[in-house]
Amino acid sequence: MTSFGPIAEHYDVLMSHVPYDMWVGYYQLLLAQMDVNPRKLLDVCCGTGLVAELLAQEGYEVTGFDLSEPMVQQARAKAAKLGLPLRYEVADAATVDLGETFAGAYSFFDSLNYITEPTSLSKAIGRVARHLEPGGTFVFDVNTAYAFEQRMFDQRERSPKAPIRYKWEGDYDPKSRIIRVSMEFERDGHHFQETHVQRAHTQEEIVQFLNDAGFEEVRAYDSYTLDPPRAKSDRLHYTARRG
Ligand SMILES: C[S@@+](CC[C@H](N)C(=O)[O-])C[C@H]1O[C@@H](n2cnc3c(N)ncnc32)[C@H](O)[C@@H]1O
Repeated sequence: MTSFGPIAEHYDVLMSHVPYDMWVGYYQLLLAQMDVNPRKLLDVCCGTGLVAELLAQEGYEVTGFDLSEPMVQQARAKAAKLGLPLRYEVADAATVDLGETFAGAYSFFDSLNYITEPTSLSKAIGRVARHLEPGGTFVFDVNTAYAFEQRMFDQRERSPKAPIRYKWEGDYDPKSRIIRVSMEFERDGHHFQETHVQRAHTQEEIVQFLNDAGFEEVRAYDSYTLDPPRAKSDRLHYTARRG
């Protein structure tokens, strides 16, 4: 894996501008739309636990897992420091087996785009279904092909005042729907780089994989609204209920 290694210890600083509070509020709005209030949650591809921490602070019982051991190490260290009862495991979404079920699962910040093989994405969605109680809900977001076409990953931070400086450049292949993003970072004179690979899964694929896994009532939204997807949506949120 070429991603989420060296960046793990800098991830929270890099994401300090990301409105995770608003994201959690939007998640709760989508749960209300589904008329559910799950308290025991599974964070799929939890990263350093930024969403899990906010939910745990609101009294939710959260277990998270992630493929990247360095990200999980960060998550565990912060949970201990914050005194939050969070459980984190290292696991691949396509094969994870935590041996328990949850009332709800979520996966945010385009984590499922990192699963670039459609068969693996199908397996991952199947694994989520197996970790949910009947009637359990799954809410997740994905980047769209439009976002990749618009070069959303081409980003730079050069300000000497910024805690971390970076230069990212994406190379998108519309045929395979895969983007390869070369990322260079510099913090306190220390340079490192990662390559991130994402795939823009189609709506048809996602709905098919959810249905194959036994999910019902699948809905897609233009992210952070209750509107349906638009041609120019750069991110979509999906909600689904396990039958
Ligand atoms: C952009 S980060 C988002 C992390 C977190 N959800 C957040 O909101 O900050 C994407 C995460 O997906 C994880 N990931 C990618 N492929 C995965 C897989 N197959 N199984 C589990 N985690 C995976 C990465 O290790 C990374 O931590």
